[in-house]
Amino acid sequence: MVTIAVTAEGPDEARVAVSPETVKKLVALGARVRVEQGAGSRSRFSDEALKAAGAEIVPAAADALAGADILLKVRRPSADEVKSLKPGGLVAALLDPFDTTAIEPLAATGMNLFSMEFMPRISRAQSMDVLSSQANLAGYKAVVDAASLFGQALPMMMTAAGTVPAAKVFIMGVGVAGLQAIATARRLGAVVSATDVRPATKEQVASLGAKFVAVEDDEFKEAQTAAGYAKPMSAAYQAKQAALIADHIKGQDIVITTALIPGRPAPRLITRAMVESMKPGSVIVDLAAELGGNCEATVPGETVEVGGVKIVGPLNLAGSVPVNASSLYAKNLLAFLELFFDKTEKTLQVNWDDEIVKGTLIAKDGRIVHPNLAPQSAS
Ligand code: NAI
Repeated sequence: MVTIAVTAEGPDEARVAVSPETVKKLVALGARVRVEQGAGSRSRFSDEALKAAGAEIVPAAADALAGADILLKVRRPSADEVKSLKPGGLVAALLDPFDTTAIEPLAATGMNLFSMEFMPRISRAQSMDVLSSQANLAGYKAVVDAASLFGQALPMMMTAAGTVPAAKVFIMGVGVAGLQAIATARRLGAVVSATDVRPATKEQVASLGAKFVAVEDDEFKEAQTAAGYAKPMSAAYQAKQAALIADHIKGQDIVITTALIPGRPAPRLITRAMVESMKPGSVIVDLAAELGGNCEATVPGETVEVGGVKIVGPLNLAGSVPVNASSLYAKNLLAFLELFFDKTEKTLQVNWDDEIVKGTLIAKDGRIVHPNLAPQSAS
């Protein structure tokens, strides 16, 4: 019988890799699911609920891990944690794959490591796309947190006592998080504008009822890779972009930044001088804080104030809505694991040539195998 281990995450991670719903489906696939006691509690998945769905609740992580075929985690486990899995066991998690110092000892254990961040963006893998499921929640939460810190109303209100003006919200980076941020800010009644370097976003911004603000030159027309991500922009483009943003940002009440380029530090889009040009009481939420931040004044993991403007640098915003984040993440992992099960034999059957398997597999037989992590392509 295929055994799946799920252990509790560290103190800074409230999410968990299974939900009662996915446990039930994994059991139906023929797996035994061993969950460390209390692992789901911060996502409000009680041991009782997981047990009722078919999980075996075990007292300690070691009991879940011993001899298991698969380990499911949210965050990267330690080499120590995975070594008691069955030799050649599968590990699926947000492995933070570019952190090679941490990945190498994990790879050396000989386990097959799957980095959920590398899920190919093809339609067959949409249900497994953890970056999308988590970024969507982060985009929502960024606006809600910003609205709460702003201390003024977002929608225009016409009352007998006078009119409350609508707040102005500017979203920088219109990927999954940015789109949800636009939608959330619009629902709250703000006047929303947004920017991105990928031309495909212009129409998406307009369709959500927001105004598109960007330098639309020849470089902009080429800024999207075949994988749908942004390319790093030239210094000349960045200078033009900065001038446009500097002018626009002065009048904004809330700015949500989400701009990222895979495998690189976050592009710097807001200088300290731009922050200083904003009105006191304005709020910036920098979703790129984890990768250095889009704003020069961001301190990852903290909220700082510059000239009365609050700058929030959250490190795990999706994790701050853990019930939803875990439910969706667990569903992503379930869809991914379904690829590995022979449904009639109820055994593990890995097709190493599958595009999704190849796309996410970062280490096998003790070696790092993913092309994005090969030393010569590290630039
Ligand atoms: P991301 O998290 O890598 O980046 C966020 C946004 O920042 C992107 O829109 C990017 O263009 C933008 N950005 C980068 N540099 C910038 C700069 N200098 N100035 C302004 N903006 C900048 O992107 P995410 O959210 O992962 O989405 C990337 C694309 O992939 C989107 O088009 C999304 O719709 C698409 N996608 C496709 C899926 C599929 O086909 N299965 C699934 C999920 C997303």
